[in-house]
Amino acid sequence: MALKITVIGTGYLGATHAAAMAELGFEVLGLDVVPEKIEMLSRGKVPMYEPGLEELLRKHVAGIEGSTGRLRFTTSWEEVGEFGDVHFVCVNTPQKHGEYACDMSFVESAFAALAPQLRRPALVVGKSTVPVGSAARLAELLADLAPAGRDVELAWNPEFLREGFAVQDTLQPDRIVVGIGGERGEKLLREVYAIPIAEGSPFVVADYPTAELVKTAANSFLATKISFINAMAEVCEAADGDVAKLAEAIGHDERIGKKFLRAGIGFGGGCLPKDIRAFMARAGELGADQALTFLREVDSINMRRRAHMVELARETVGGSFLGQRVAVLGASFKPDSDDVRDSPALNVAGQIHLQGGQVTVYDPKGMENARRVFPTLTYAPSAPEACRGAHVVLHLTEWGEFRELDPAALAEVVAEPRILDGRNALDAAVWRAAGWTYRAMGRPRV
Ligand code: UDX
Repeated sequence: MALKITVIGTGYLGATHAAAMAELGFEVLGLDVVPEKIEMLSRGKVPMYEPGLEELLRKHVAGIEGSTGRLRFTTSWEEVGEFGDVHFVCVNTPQKHGEYACDMSFVESAFAALAPQLRRPALVVGKSTVPVGSAARLAELLADLAPAGRDVELAWNPEFLREGFAVQDTLQPDRIVVGIGGERGEKLLREVYAIPIAEGSPFVVADYPTAELVKTAANSFLATKISFINAMAEVCEAADGDVAKLAEAIGHDERIGKKFLRAGIGFGGGCLPKDIRAFMARAGELGADQALTFLREVDSINMRRRAHMVELARETVGGSFLGQRVAVLGASFKPDSDDVRDSPALNVAGQIHLQGGQVTVYDPKGMENARRVFPTLTYAPSAPEACRGAHVVLHLTEWGEFRELDPAALAEVVAEPRILDGRNALDAAVWRAAGWTYRAMGRPRV
């Protein structure tokens, strides 16, 4: 009998995981506590923008014409308990208000609601990013609260998907990491991931704490890499060097590698910033805070980039934003996503607005979310509209659409052809040839 799978929490991670499990051939039941989300997903609609996800969902959601019918959604914990052999917990763990630590309340309530419904042998698999030590504690909680007792096992299987590539990262993961408490966990997860394993994804088996740490360590490394190149950008600015050239040159060393060396306004999103902070907080609790003090520096280098972009913009418009129109291209924290959580672009836009600038924002997909977070900014329906009458244009999220803009045509609509490239992603020579003053972070002014 094929395994039956449930997915608890249908955000970026859960919705993608549920659709991917159906794609791998399993019967899947997704649960969320927000009825509106369940209603949307049941109609084959994805509550966020993620390339390829809606297509995958519609391929499998029951009731949609031509679908396999393998994927259904519910708000009933009882139904989930009855249905599943393997339960994936995919709820989010945001940063706590006013603290570095992560807010475990969604994980806690998911486990508390699920456990009493587990009346037969089952595997619960945590995918949420949690402080190390959580899995061991949650395993005990399951054993205490589940009617099936020790027949319920826990595994921890961190998720490494990148927004914008969520479907690909879930179906062809570059590694599958499982922290297990017993043999059954490993056996069942090898069955769940049989196809990606056969296709070559490495399967790494570890204990609970190691598996939990793999996730936070990976994100800390990535954050460090970005802040490293941004620190080099600061030095390049002081020494009149070119950080893009520097990144290219050091990237040829295979031990360093080219990826994640794009200097600019830094990292944001729902993962890297809060994960490094939660990691520091947890290390503190464990008495290992010294080991991670460097992450404090990583965080502050990153936050400095946003302030630096605001300064560059202010300098460009003559020292004060008052009466100045500022066009902001990009609101999401990265391209191909509508996610504006801790978005550097929106943060810069907000700071300039608070300093008296008249900010107009355009983003291909993130407008609705941006408007919700920053209703006081002005939003334009297209890049040229956002740039109309602008005294400076800021390129803050590197959408493909912005690289395709025609600088000559755009020069006609702005008040001053001045562009600051906060992502080092535009072709400086092309913009300069069209009459623009082009400046980028960590690069010579020319
Ligand atoms: C990240 C991890 O990559 C992923 O493995 C984990 O599961 C979740 O967190 P994500 O948040 O989707 O994924 O974004 P990512 O692609 O890592 O980018 C994070 C931020 O770093 C973005 O704001 C991006 O613009 C920025 N970034 C990335 C840079 O500033 N420079 C770079 O070179 C790369």
